Amino acid sequence: MCEANGDGAWVHVATIDALPIGSVTQVGVNGQPVALYNVAGTIYATSDICTHSQAYLSEGYLEGDMIECPLHQGTFHVPTGRAVGPPVTDDLPTYAVRTTDGAVFVKPNTSAPASH
Ligand code: FES
Repeated sequence: MCEANGDGAWVHVATIDALPIGSVTQVGVNGQPVALYNVAGTIYATSDICTHSQAYLSEGYLEGDMIECPLHQGTFHVPTGRAVGPPVTDDLPTYAVRTTDGAVFVKPNTSAPASH
């Protein structure tokens, strides 16, 4: 499902009702696994693949705005994708998100990871 706008296509990935506060959920965006996070009612999206050794972050533990990887417990700051806790050192790509009438859309192009 796509919706075109002046900036390109947004991909409809979920409904807001399917993303409870404090949850992280994997969706597909153009064949790429993307993690959707509901942080206190705001939806964020990052690559779902940990930059350390490719575990799925959607199987990890979301606490506040930090996601802990399920494999080696590295942590990332969800809104920026920044790697903040070892052993991760490389940041996550992030995606623009918008919500309209209960529908959640993700822009397929990732933003560059935050710089340190
Ligand atoms: S795979 Fe994520 S911290 Fe190792």
